[in-house]
Order: sequence, then C-alpha cells, then structure tokens
Amino acid sequence: MKKILLTTTALVVAGAFALTGCSSERGGDTGSGSGDEAAKGFEAGSTIGVALPDKTSENWVLAGKLFTDGLEEAGYKADVQYAPASNTVAEQQNQIQAMVQNGAKVIIIGAKDGKQLATQVQAAKDAGAYVIAYDRLIENTEAVDYYVAFDNFKVGQLQGQALLDGLEERAGHEAPYNIELFSGSPDDANSAVFFDGAMDVLQPKIDDGTLNVVSGQTEIAQTATEGWLAENAQNRMDTLLTGSYSGDTVLDGVLSPNDTLARAIITSVQQAGKPVPVVTGQDSEVESVKSIMEGVQYSTINKDTSLLVEQAIKMVGQLQKGDEVDVNDTESYDNGVKVVDSYLLEPLIVTKENAADAYKNVPSLLEIVESYQ
Ligand code: BGC
Repeated sequence: MKKILLTTTALVVAGAFALTGCSSERGGDTGSGSGDEAAKGFEAGSTIGVALPDKTSENWVLAGKLFTDGLEEAGYKADVQYAPASNTVAEQQNQIQAMVQNGAKVIIIGAKDGKQLATQVQAAKDAGAYVIAYDRLIENTEAVDYYVAFDNFKVGQLQGQALLDGLEERAGHEAPYNIELFSGSPDDANSAVFFDGAMDVLQPKIDDGTLNVVSGQTEIAQTATEGWLAENAQNRMDTLLTGSYSGDTVLDGVLSPNDTLARAIITSVQQAGKPVPVVTGQDSEVESVKSIMEGVQYSTINKDTSLLVEQAIKMVGQLQKGDEVDVNDTESYDNGVKVVDSYLLEPLIVTKENAADAYKNVPSLLEIVESYQ
C-alpha cells in the first residue's frame, strides 16, 4: 500500500503551518492537473455532484443533507448521491460517471474506496469538471484538484493522547497498562493516517513499557476493521478477549478510530462480563456523546461536519468565479502520483470534562451534554 503521507514530520510541520492560519492561496495555474481550467470559472446555477459513501457513521448522513441545502442556497443544482451499502464501489463509480454525463461542473467525492475511482475522476476532468476529494483522499490519479478534510493525522494524535490521559485517570493502577489497538477500513485512505497519528504518540510508550499490547497485534493490517463495520470490530474484540484476556488479565484501554467501533468494542467487553476499559472514538455521534456523559466511552473527536461542508461549498464558489481556491496545506497529501492541494480543518478532542465547551457551537450536542449536568 502506498503511504499517503510524505513523512510524519512533513505533515506535522505542514499541519502546524496550516493551522496557524498562514494560508497559501493557489489558483489553478500550477500545471499539475488542477490547472489550466481553474481560471475559467463556470456558469452560476450549474449542477454540482456530490458522491458520498455508504452511511457508516452519522457524519455522512448529515453531510448529504447539508450539501443539498447549502448548494441550493448558494444557487446551484445539487445532485447528491449515496452509494448503497452493498456493491458500494461499483455503484459509486456509476454515480460519478452519471454526474459527468449530466454536465456537473464540480464533483465532490467522499470516496468509498479512494483507490478505485481513477477512471471516473479522469472522465470528469476530460469533460472539464473539477474534482474535490471530501474527507477521504482519492489516490493514484492526477485528476483530483483539491482535498478538503479535517487534519486526519492530528485526529490520530489526539486519540493516542486521550488514551494515555484516560489510562492515567481511570485505570486505577500505575503503568504498565494493557491495551489493544483498532484501525479503520483498509479501503479508506484516512485509516492509515489516523493510525499513524495515534502511533506517533503511543509507540514510544509501547517501547518504554508503559503500554503493553497484550495480543501483540500492533501492525495496521492486524488491527483493521473492514468496511468500518461495527460487527467486525465486535468480533475482533470478542476474539482478543478470549485469546489474550482470560483469567485475571485486565484490559485497561482500547484505541478505537471512531465512535461506531468504540460502542461495538464496549459492547463486546460488557458481554464478556469485564470492566469497561478506556475507549477512544471520533465523530461525536449522539450515542457516544451520551456514553461519554455517562462515564462509559472515554473520548471522541469533534469534527463539525457543517464546517467541512461549508468549506467545500466555498471551494465550489471560488471555482465557479474563476477565483483562487483557498488551500492551507500543499505538502501532506501525496496520493501516489501527486501532492494534492488541501484545506485542512482542526479537529477537537472531547471528553466528559470539556464537552460543554467543545460543543458550544453545536446546539444539538450541547443540549445532550447539558441534560447530564
Ligand atoms: C471519516 C471518519 C469516519 C469513518 C467511517 C472516515 O473516513 O473521516 O470520520 O468515522 O470514515 O465512516
């Protein structure tokens, strides 16, 4: 698998640069494929295609609604499609092809499998449309113009740090702590970046003996959760508990890459009659926010979907007018054939302690938090 990060250091440096607001604005005159057409703009009121993957977490469901409303409000015709849960890759390929044929001027793609869209995004480019990778990178093609996402490496680092903090707070004993590691779906480019970010924090603590991965499963391939499916994480946790935590061996913590998987991992441990370990998450899903407030799941990440959709729609507006497109990172996301100009937003760690503050701009979640206070 081609690593999408140039180097960890490059990303951290670029991320720090990006997030301190030193934005480097670039138009489309780079000759890199995002290119020559960018200065041209296109007709206001054009069709914008949005191809989203299956609904594996609440953020995807919300994104579809926000894109439909936001694009129409901005005067475009929105063509928002989800790939169904079965045969997702082929369906998403067909949907993108249809958007091209229907004359969409920009196609925003939350990829199901970012390695399998090269033909379709090339067809979009050939037809004169722009392609924006949304949340997940599209790999091995020149034909992706921009990437808009939360800083995925930072997400991983925050998860790793939350796991360490949670262990100190809740394990009830000194180190060493027994932990297990989970990662996301191998067909999602984000999964490796989340895991690399987390291991950037956790590996030194594994090396110095603070953390003990009892199963010994520390390679990403061993920790993967195919399709980001809850049942796959639950089955793996069941197997780990049987194989490595029989008798008195206590599981102190689990790195979980998102909330859906965190809840599945917690269910597995509860069904085995064991105490709930410190479990991380991501996405601020309603059930996980409740679980955090109840003191069960330890942490999640606030990646406010409305901000990400807003940024993507802003890019569409800049492309439409032929303006320069705002990017704040031109180094981190190598898709295998080019480094994709990116706009990265800053993720926020959420625990019970800071939840009210973390969701101060997300009324639906703030309401849940306040109902526990
Ligand atoms: C997203 C996460 C999400 C996961 C599963 C990732 O690409 O960045 O926010 O939890 O997909 O849907």
